[in-house]
Amino acid sequence: MDRRNPSSCGRFTLLLRNLFIAALAYTFVVEVLHIYQTGTISPFSKGPPKKSTGKGSKGGSLSGGVNWRLRPATLVESINDAFMGKRPDVDTYANYTRLVETCRGSLNGLEKMRNVYDCLDYLTHHEDDYFFLPENRPSAADPSYKSIEDAAPHPHTISEIALAPFNFIILELFVKAYLYTQNIPCSRLHIWLESDGFPNAVPDMMKDPLFAKFLPLVERGDLVLKAWKFPRRIPLPKGAIAEDPAYTKSLVGRGSIRRASGATKSPKTEVYIADGVVRVEDGSEWLVLTERQMTFLPVAVSDAVRFVVLHLYGGVYMDMDVMLLRDMRPLLLTPDHNFAERWAVHSHPGDYNTAVMSLNANTSLSSYLVRGGIRMGLNFHPRIIGRMAWKDGRNEEFAMFETGLFDPIWGEFNWGREGRCTVPCFKDYGVAFQGTKGAIKDEWESYDGEPLSERVYQRELELRSRISDSPSSSPDEAERTPVKALAMDLDVTYGGKPYTLKEDKYPPNNRTLENFFRGAWSYHIHNQWTKHPQPNSWFDIAQKAHDGFFLRGRKNVYGESWTGPDIPAYDRWPEFD
Ligand SMILES: *[C@@H]1O[C@H](CO)[C@@H](O)[C@H](O)[C@H]1NC(C)=O
Ligand SMILES: *[C@@H]1O[C@H](CO)[C@@H](O)[C@H](O)[C@H]1NC(C)=O
Ligand SMILES: *[C@@H]1O[C@H](CO)[C@@H](O)[C@H](O)[C@H]1NC(C)=O
Repeated sequence: MDRRNPSSCGRFTLLLRNLFIAALAYTFVVEVLHIYQTGTISPFSKGPPKKSTGKGSKGGSLSGGVNWRLRPATLVESINDAFMGKRPDVDTYANYTRLVETCRGSLNGLEKMRNVYDCLDYLTHHEDDYFFLPENRPSAADPSYKSIEDAAPHPHTISEIALAPFNFIILELFVKAYLYTQNIPCSRLHIWLESDGFPNAVPDMMKDPLFAKFLPLVERGDLVLKAWKFPRRIPLPKGAIAEDPAYTKSLVGRGSIRRASGATKSPKTEVYIADGVVRVEDGSEWLVLTERQMTFLPVAVSDAVRFVVLHLYGGVYMDMDVMLLRDMRPLLLTPDHNFAERWAVHSHPGDYNTAVMSLNANTSLSSYLVRGGIRMGLNFHPRIIGRMAWKDGRNEEFAMFETGLFDPIWGEFNWGREGRCTVPCFKDYGVAFQGTKGAIKDEWESYDGEPLSERVYQRELELRSRISDSPSSSPDEAERTPVKALAMDLDVTYGGKPYTLKEDKYPPNNRTLENFFRGAWSYHIHNQWTKHPQPNSWFDIAQKAHDGFFLRGRKNVYGESWTGPDIPAYDRWPEFD
C-alpha cells in the first residue's frame, strides 16, 4: 500500500493503461448554492448544523435519550474485513466479453440485463472466469517504467475522474473509498476543479480548512488537484478526420487551402481542413472551438469535460457520488479499456450512462466522441453521444457494461426486475443513509448465507456503563482491557439515561461491507448531496470500516493495512445524538 515501498506495480505508473482517477468538480452551480445556503464561498461549507428536533424522542435526543456514546459499533462477533481475499495481480486483465455476455446476454436479446442478482453472484464467485493474466505481462514489457518515487505526483499518470456538483461529505467518501479499495501505487486520483469561472479554485481549495485533512495525500501525490480550463484547441490523433464520414463533405480538397481566421496572429502556418479542424505546419491536427462555442461551454461543461479529459489523458472518469467497492485496475489495464455503463431504464444499445466511463487517450474513438459532441452543438449528453456512436457503428469499440457492475440498484425502481433482489435489497437510494431500526424492509431478503454470529454484548454494555459510572474501579485486567481501549477517547459522561439497546433509535446491527453489493465495482449514491448517514446505516458502516483502516486497526477488503499518512476520521453528526 505504501508508495514509498517500491513494488512490481510501482514500476509502471507512467503506463498509459494505468488506473488514473480524476475527479472533476463542477463548482459553478455548487458555488451559487453554497453562497445562498451558507453565506460563504467555500464549496466545503456545511452550513449551520441542523437543530435536533427531538421528534419522537425523549429529552430532545434523536437517539431516544440513551447515551449514544456507549452504543456498540456492531452486533457482529468478528467482522471479516478482508472478504475479497488477495488483491488481483497487478497484471490482471478483465475479459470484457465475458462480463458483457454474462450480465447482459446477447446483443439483441439482452436476456440477462434485468437480473442484477445473478450478475453480482457471477462477479462474486467466478473471478477466474472473467479475470486472466495476459501472456505478455504489462509489468514485464517495459523495464524503463519509472518507479513511483520518481513519478509522484506525476500529472501524466492516467485517471479516473469524477465530475459532479460536490460537497465535502461526498468528496470525503469518494476519496476514502478510493484509498480503501484501489491499488494505490498504481493509481492516481485527479480532482478537476472548474477554473474558467473560478481562476483560484485550486489554491482556494488548498487553503480551505475543510480540505485540510486531505493535504497529506496531496503532498504524497495520491490526490492531484487540477485546474480545469476548457481548451480552445483539442489535439486529434493522426488520420482521425480523414476516416470520419461526418467530415467527408466539409473536407477541403488538397490544394484549396483556407486560411485560419487567426492565422495572421499565429506564428505557425495552419489551415482549416474541415469545419472546425485545422492542420498545423508540423502535420498535427486540432479541433478548434469558435468564440461562440466557448461562450456556451459553461452550460455544457459537466457533460463535456469528462469526454475531453479522457481524450486528453485517458483513464476512467467517475462521478463524485460513486463509491468504489473493488479494485478497478483489471478493468483499466486491458489494452482497449473503452467502456461506460448502461443507462438503466433503456434497452437501446446506444443508451450509455457516463457516471462511470473509461477511454484510452488520444484514440480514434476518444476523438470521435469529442468531435461528435462539439458538432452537435456541444451536446455531450451520454444518450445523444451514445446513439450517434451506435448509428455510426462504433459502439462495438465502446463496451456497455450493465448496471450491476457500477450501480446495482438502478434498475430496481425503473423497470421490472427479474430474478431476486440484490444483497442488501434496496428499493431506493435514500435507504443507504438510514440507521433506524426496521427502516429498510426486507433488506436481507436475498441473503442465503448463515447469519453472522452476533456478539453477546450484554457484558460489554455492563462494563461500559461501569466505566462511565466509576472510571477508577478496577475489574480484572482481562475484562478491562478491551473496554478500556474502547472507552479511551470516549467521553462517556451523559446526563440522560444509561444505554439500552431497546431504547436506542439507531441500534447496532449485523450490516458489514462484506454484504454490501458484493461483486459490484461501485455503488452509485445518486445525488443524495445533503444527506448525512445516520448511525449504523449502511454508509455509517462503510465509514467505520474506512476509519478503522486509516487508524491502522482494521484491514481493507484485500486484507491490506494502511501505511500512508494519517488521515482524520469522518466527522460525526451531532444532530443524531
Ligand atoms: C474472453 O471471453 C470470450 C468469450 O467467452 C472468449 O471467447 C475469449 O477467448 C476470452 N478471452 C480471453 C483472452 O480469455
Ligand atoms: C495523439 O496521437 C498522435 C498520433 O496519432 C500523436 O502524433 C500526438 O502527439 C498525440 N497527441 C497527444 C496529445 O498525445
Ligand atoms: C442479519 O439479521 C437478520 C435478522 O435480523 C437476518 O435475517 C440476516 O440473515 C442477518 N444477516 C447476516 C449477514 O447475518
